[in-house]
Parts: sequence; structure tokens; C-alpha cells
Amino acid sequence: MKAIVLDKLGSPSVLKIRDVQKPSIANPNDVLIRMKFSGINYAEILARKGIYKWVPKKKGFILGMEGSGIVEEVGRNVSNCKIGDPVIVVRGYSCHAEYVTVDEKYVFPAIPEYALAQNAAFCGSFMTAYIALKKMARVEAGETILVQAAAGALGTATVMLAKAMGLKVAGTTSTPKKITLLENLDVDLAINYSQENFREAIFNWTSKNGVNVILESVGGKVFKESFQCLSPMGRLILVGISSVRFNKWNPLTWWPTYKLIPRVNLLSMLGKSQGILAFHIGRLLDDKYTEMKEEYLELVKFVREHTIFPLIGKIFPLDQIGDAHKFIESRKSFGKILLQID
Ligand SMILES: NC(=O)c1ccc[n+]([C@@H]2O[C@H](COP(=O)([O-])OP(=O)(O)OC[C@H]3O[C@@H](n4cnc5c(N)ncnc54)[C@H](OP(=O)(O)O)[C@@H]3O)[C@@H](O)[C@H]2O)c1
Repeated sequence: MKAIVLDKLGSPSVLKIRDVQKPSIANPNDVLIRMKFSGINYAEILARKGIYKWVPKKKGFILGMEGSGIVEEVGRNVSNCKIGDPVIVVRGYSCHAEYVTVDEKYVFPAIPEYALAQNAAFCGSFMTAYIALKKMARVEAGETILVQAAAGALGTATVMLAKAMGLKVAGTTSTPKKITLLENLDVDLAINYSQENFREAIFNWTSKNGVNVILESVGGKVFKESFQCLSPMGRLILVGISSVRFNKWNPLTWWPTYKLIPRVNLLSMLGKSQGILAFHIGRLLDDKYTEMKEEYLELVKFVREHTIFPLIGKIFPLDQIGDAHKFIESRKSFGKILLQID
């Protein structure tokens, strides 16, 4: 079968399609899935650079945290799906391939109203956004939120969920095209940070009070200035550091990376009664599958009730994975970027 195997770290040009052995059912709980689409996450860009820890330590593994497909075969103990079912797979790796064999705990029923492409675009971004908003920030209707990188995959998911939860949403992005996209998503304040200072925009929007909640994924100066936008009793959820340019073989990147790591003055937080939380979906993938399933079902109910569909920016054929990574890194992408496998 064809698959994208990461056997060398580096630029997008290291990503090549390869023929590898088709996986088979090895355990009674295994499910064999014929993959149709696979979502690309920023995490895979970091994995390609060797700075993402939720993938196998040894190179030579198949990339791809998530995807959708059709069940082709099931082990004798599998109870949550059957042959022919459309499903979503979320596993952390192995999904950029024609076939995946995984334990049934990594398999979720596809959302019936979604096309298979939309199912592949759903889980990583929407689960992260949902847990960040609902379980970590514990948002309430009427609160204000600032979403950094709002036009991206996680950003658009967060914007759509936050709007449906009754929040007033401000989102940042870098181009007029992506501003229009945010306006189409009904964002209350779309900020083009290439043209205006987002901190000032937030102060004006909130009459200098700051926002109740922030979803931050950029790090460095953006984290620092975002934190200054947090109101008393506000919660900032850190989910990533997209600005990181770490290369362990290049000492020139070590100090800039160290400086990007978010730091806060706890005493000033005490004075304002604020919270900083951090969430990574890898935690759920690692050891909390039962919890993840419950969250997943709750989230699916929510998006069906509110008629929310993932926004797909572009679909690349599997063999153009390098171009897909380049596109995401160019920061021109919006919404979720997918690979079409079949
Ligand atoms: N914690 C978790 O479980 C979890 C899950 C999913 C994603 N994430 C994190 O969330 C972030 C977004 O992920 P995604 O997959 O949804 O990607 P994405 O948002 O589709 O792409 C990244 C976007 O970030 C913005 N950005 C701002 N400053 C940047 C910089 N210095 N370098 C690169 N991009 C920058 C760019 O949009 P603008 O030009 O519009 O600003 C860019 O398009 C990543 O940090 C990722 O690791 C975390």
C-alpha cells in the first residue's frame, strides 16, 4: 500500500510517498480501515522537524494523526463498528496511508451529516477546541474570547464552537482574505494583526477591561501581549507554540526557542485573579480514551444540534504531501488542510 513514511527529518522535501506492507488484523480488538482522507495537523509539521513528542521515537513511522475511511475487516472482539461502516480514526500517527489497522478504541463512528472529507477534518481540531473551551476555560454564554490564529484549522473550529456557545468572539489573522473568512464565520471582531495592534484592538473592544478567555497557540511575543489582554478572572488556554523554529543541531536556534516559551508573573496573576491552563490532545490519546469517547459524543451532539461543519481550506492528493506542508507553513492556508487518499 502507499503511505507517507517519515524516515528523515527536515524540510517538506523529505516527505515522500512509499510502498509499504499493508497492515493486517493482529489482535482481536483490531480494526482494518481503508482510508479515504487524512487531516494534516500542525503537529505533523513539528514532527517532520523532530520537535513533536507524541509520535514514535524511532523514525520510519507513518505520519498522520487522523483521518476517515471505511471499515474493511474487524477482529473477533470488536464491538463498536462493523465492516462497511464509515469511521474516524484518531491515533497520533499512521493515518497518511491507504490502510490503517488500529485498536477499536482509536475508532469513532463518522458523523452522518458530514461527508467523509469533513469527518477527516473534524476530530483533532474540534476536540481540542471543545475541551479547551468547555472543560478547561469553562466558558459561559456572554463572555468574550480572543482566538489567536483564528483562521486556521483549530482557530476556525474554536470560533464556530465559541459562537454556538454564546460567546462574543474576537479573532486574529494576517491577511485581508482571511479577515473576510472570519467575518463570514460571524466573528464579532476580526483583527488583521499585520495592519493593527491586536492588544489595542482588544482594549477598544472591551472598554479596556480585556477578554474573559484567550485561546493562544503562537507563543513568544504573541503570548506575552495576549496575556496582557486578559481580564480579571480571565482564563488563558495555551495549546501550542506555532512560532517555534527549534533545530537541535543548530545552536543558533536554542536561545530564540528558549525565549519563545511562555512565562508569566504569578504575583501579577494573583492580583488580577487570573488563570493560565494548557491543554494538549496527546494526553487524551495517551491514556484517557474512555474520557475522550465521552467528550467526543458530547461534542458530536453539540455540532449536530448547532449545524456546525468543519471548514476545509484545501485538499491535496496523498503524493503532494510536501506541497501541503509548504502551504501550511506559508501561513496562506485557512481552515483544515486534507490529504485525499482514495
Ligand atoms: N494542544 C493541542 O492539542 C492542539 C491541537 C491542535 C492544534 N494545536 C496547535 O494549535 C496551533 C494551530 O494548529 P493548526 O493545525 O490549526 O494550524 P493552523 O492554525 O491551520 O496554521 C497555523 C496558523 O498560525 C498562524 N500563525 C501565527 N503566527 C505564526 C507563526 N509565527 N508561525 C506559524 N504560524 C503562525 C498563521 O495564521 P495567521 O497568518 O492567520 O496568523 C498560520 O496559518 C499549532 O500551534 C498547533 O500545534 C494544538
